[in-house]
Amino acid sequence: MIDFTKIEVHTMQLSDLEEIQDCLQTDFDDFWTFEIFKGELVNTTSSYLVLRYEGEIVCFGGIKIILDEANIMDIVTKKKKRNQGFARILLNELITIAKEENCSTMTLEVREHNLPAIHLYEQFDFQEVGRRKHYYRNGDTAILMTLPFTNL
Ligand SMILES: CC(C)(COP(=O)(O)OP(=O)(O)OC[C@H]1O[C@@H](n2cnc3c(N)ncnc32)[C@H](O)[C@@H]1OP(=O)(O)O)[C@@H](O)C(=O)NCCC(=O)NCCS
Repeated sequence: MIDFTKIEVHTMQLSDLEEIQDCLQTDFDDFWTFEIFKGELVNTTSSYLVLRYEGEIVCFGGIKIILDEANIMDIVTKKKKRNQGFARILLNELITIAKEENCSTMTLEVREHNLPAIHLYEQFDFQEVGRRKHYYRNGDTAILMTLPFTNL
């Protein structure tokens, strides 16, 4: 059970990325390299957040906003910290940012076999709107999902 008083969510700085640089691939299973990620942090259309639990970075994720659409670029929880609700908290914060930036919809692509991620997005009422075959380098199919913000 998470103690919510021990959670801190804040904008990702280069120093945060450097803190997890050595364990990005091993502990987080991230598909981006440090260098690609670094480039993303200086991209003004992107917003990245980190979630710290008891001071430790346990989850991070980001969106890229183009016109009125926020695309989820990445959301990853540290392997040992999965299934405790951290990604749900982070995604909720990303949705808040997208709404504050007057986006009308949120979109994402997810591998069709990535059930943990698909279940996470379904909890927020993201709906499948299409599939792209061979979208990923290894030939995997991507499911496209969107969440329209109807309260705008
Ligand atoms: C997808 C991912 C970010 C979820 O992170 P998490 O912190 O474990 O997720 P949460 O604990 O917040 O879980 C939220 C919901 O996600 C779903 N979920 C999480 N792990 C799951 C699993 N192993 N199997 C099925 N559903 C799962 C559930 O619906 C869960 O809600 P519930 O606990 O009420 O059932 C994590 O598995 C991860 O980092 N995966 C590798 C990176 C990745 O694939 N990212 C998505 C890119 S599109």
